[in-house]
Amino acid sequence: MEKIGIAVLCSGGGTNFQAIVNAQEAGLIPHGEIKLAVCDHAGAYALTRAERMGVETAVFDREAIPDRAERERKILACLKEHGIGLVVFAGFMTILSPVFVSAYAGRIINIHPALLPSFGGRGFYGLHVHEAVLKAGVKVTGATVHYVTEECDAGPIIAQKAVEVREGDTPEILQKRVMREAEWVILPEAVEKVCKELSEKTGKEGE
Ligand code: GAR
Repeated sequence: MEKIGIAVLCSGGGTNFQAIVNAQEAGLIPHGEIKLAVCDHAGAYALTRAERMGVETAVFDREAIPDRAERERKILACLKEHGIGLVVFAGFMTILSPVFVSAYAGRIINIHPALLPSFGGRGFYGLHVHEAVLKAGVKVTGATVHYVTEECDAGPIIAQKAVEVREGDTPEILQKRVMREAEWVILPEAVEKVCKELSEKTGKEGE
């Protein structure tokens, strides 16, 4: 069986990236192999984590390459060079163009820190999501892993997990609970699920 090459794209702290690496080390992603961490921000702590974990890194800094189309071309070329079969957005804060999405159609997944379709779309990222959840007064939130399509946060849902909103929560407290109880659990599971499906598909095509 050929393992699916995985690239994890991050912009910040990289705790979701770390969760995928930990799952791989625990043998929980038998159908995939993390080959690359890609960051669009040179100062991202995710890069330090990747170096520490022995994962190859590539940086396409938004300030150094301000033109989005050029940045996307470079990222795509890098993914192809490394034989990447699955792209995982793990706190990747750039919305990609239809050109990028169609180049990896059905092979890009994203973790979102809420129960989509609620609290998703443009402007809903990072702490803003948890601020909106608290403002709305909902009692349950969570996380969603979904396929990335041209429309922001609207692709088919792969996995979701609910998390309780508690009295006295701040956006920061809620963000941590959602990460710990939902994101770090469902993202590695979804990565393995999609790798398994892709590797079965690749196997069938090669028969
Ligand atoms: C995570 O909570 C992730 O769900 C969110 O950013 C955080 C990144 O943390 N992503 C989005 O809001 C995407 N719309 P991390 O860098 O520690 O994984």
